[in-house]
Amino acid sequence: MSNNPTRHILVTSALPYANGSLHLGHLLEAIQTDIWVRFQNQRGNHCIYVCADDAHGTAIMLKAEEAGISPERLIDQVRGEHQRDYADFLVHFDNFHSTHSPENRHYSELIYRRLRDNGHIVQRDIEQLFDPEKQLFLADRYIKGTCPRCKTPDQYGDNCEACGATYSPDELIDPRSALSGATPQSKTSEHYFFDLPAFGELLHQWIHSGGLQSQVANKLDEWLDSGLQQWDISRDGPYFGFEIPEAPGKYFYVWLDAPIGYMASFRNYCDQCGLDFERYWAPGADTELYHFIGKDIINFHGLFWPAMLDSAGFRKPSAIYAHGFLTVNGTKMSKSRGTFITARTYLEHSDPEYLRYYFAAKLTGSVDDIDLNLEDFAQRVNSDLVGKVINIASRSARFISKGNDGVLSDELADSKLWQQAVDAGETIAGHYQQREYAKAMREIMALADATNEYFDARQPWAMAKQPGREQELIAVCSLCINLFRVLMIYLQPVLPRTAGKAAEFLNADLDWSQPPQPLLQHRINPFKPMMKRLEPASLEKMVASQRQALESRTAPAVSKHPGAENHEPIAAEIEFPDFAKLDLRVAKILAAEEVEGADKLLRLTLDLGGESRQVLAGIKAAYGATDLVGKLTVMVANLKPRKMRFGMSEGMVLAAGPGGKDIWLLSPDSGAKPGMRVK
Ligand code: MSP
Ligand code: ZN
Repeated sequence: MSNNPTRHILVTSALPYANGSLHLGHLLEAIQTDIWVRFQNQRGNHCIYVCADDAHGTAIMLKAEEAGISPERLIDQVRGEHQRDYADFLVHFDNFHSTHSPENRHYSELIYRRLRDNGHIVQRDIEQLFDPEKQLFLADRYIKGTCPRCKTPDQYGDNCEACGATYSPDELIDPRSALSGATPQSKTSEHYFFDLPAFGELLHQWIHSGGLQSQVANKLDEWLDSGLQQWDISRDGPYFGFEIPEAPGKYFYVWLDAPIGYMASFRNYCDQCGLDFERYWAPGADTELYHFIGKDIINFHGLFWPAMLDSAGFRKPSAIYAHGFLTVNGTKMSKSRGTFITARTYLEHSDPEYLRYYFAAKLTGSVDDIDLNLEDFAQRVNSDLVGKVINIASRSARFISKGNDGVLSDELADSKLWQQAVDAGETIAGHYQQREYAKAMREIMALADATNEYFDARQPWAMAKQPGREQELIAVCSLCINLFRVLMIYLQPVLPRTAGKAAEFLNADLDWSQPPQPLLQHRINPFKPMMKRLEPASLEKMVASQRQALESRTAPAVSKHPGAENHEPIAAEIEFPDFAKLDLRVAKILAAEEVEGADKLLRLTLDLGGESRQVLAGIKAAYGATDLVGKLTVMVANLKPRKMRFGMSEGMVLAAGPGGKDIWLLSPDSGAKPGMRVK
């Protein structure tokens, strides 16, 4: 490696949207990338890792509006949260910027003008559904209506969750805006398109220039073969983004300026540390550029982005590295099961390096999905890291510190075993380079096994009791300490924190730009525990607390659509006649029982003055079931019965307060009687 020239590499992860918290899926990507970058730098290459928040678009605009703050304030808050999350997972960026930045505006305008001047921008009118109340054009996911095929009400604009039909929003029966409830109108406006079909030949070449994963190249080929379409890059205001130059009222679609955010973040970094921007982005640059992304955004990075870069006179990526999706316990991350785990919830219950190791042990260079099986996770971390690797140091170190004042022997007790560990380094490095981390971890654990077997076979604990074998004892344990160091060198990209502790214990660096050299007659420091066992109970707590955190926010949200996940409902103003429609009655709580599988719900049996009703109410956090029996409350008596996941609910109990203890109950001596009208 040392005689290879230093590679200059720029690496990115996809920019997370600034409208929500990071979850373990985002971390899969960031950890995959971070391991690769740390590996490159440890090998003596010069590798820079930049990222940013993706701050533009309708979803962020609406989210800020709901929260009653400016989009700028929202994205600032989220950016702080994202940066803390990444840092706590030991993901190290050289720069973390924002797409809502002067650098990004500069490069977006520059690239757009170049595309336009090259004749690659076309304008044309399109017809779209428009919300007359909110005064904005509605993306498909903001339109709801009855499925034209199976007639299920309340389906989203592009597909039916009940029968799986796909359609365009104007086929919906009785379409409504999911934002305001208004009936959308068809409206025409002029849009700007990027002329992607002009790049068919270029893209074909790029796809087959080597370096792409075969699954990715095949997918891109398929799109190419089925015919490229012009890409709509403009959105009408109001929109949170950059206005298109010379096109008042038109904004860049969020996906136009998002990848340019990679450049913007790097530019911002160059300005801080005096690096040469052009050296990384000029055509024919002698540097390498890689984008780590999820498989859902291959089209943006494999088609639009290289075409844009080419037209605008910049270099194209050396490759894009796509990974699969994270599932938890074999299924899509699910909020109700508590497996939609946010970065922060994980950190509150577990150690980031456990997850880094587990992801590494599962990651390959393909786009296959990766499963986090919580049982396997605990077992794997404990048996591999604690049971195999750290164990080598802890069981060897005590003989060295006791028997030889902490100094390692001056020779290797078994040079064959040592050489085997050193030689494995090049294979392991090859796996890291190919993002075949699972293979790398398997090789490393095989070395750990061999080391433990050697230790067991030589029985140092027996030598310690036999006078005259002191030197042999120290030599055996010194070799094991040296092998431990080799293992930690190979694991450093995955476990940077533990590697730091190991370096301190070993009183030596963990450099990997050269094959490891043994530490002979070298003083080490006293051994201190480096890693605790993963307690499976902590994972159970994590899942329970995640489920609770999400349930407490589970209002009937506007949208279950991904990407609109975080929207709380926007209650439109109502007229007095709407209010008058409510039949509010005093109700007596006859029975209250827990609902199996639901943390928040109580099944209430209510007496409405002779008539009894069953209501599923999300008030368990406020009162235990027994506290409620015999109490009076107010209910909406004429709410149409609804079938919920846990059964029928025939009305709604009114509650006031922040959702904790303060539920509004009528005092028993208020004179209220069940069934009495409340007005
Ligand atoms: N903002 C865009 C990316 C713009 S890049 C110029 C975006 N954001 S995202 O927040 O939805 O996703 C960010 C990255 O996380 C994407 O690469 C996406 O594939 C990845 N993942 C999101 N959920 C994931 C899993 N469940 N599993 C693995 N990766 C996932 O897309
Ligand atoms: Zn349907």
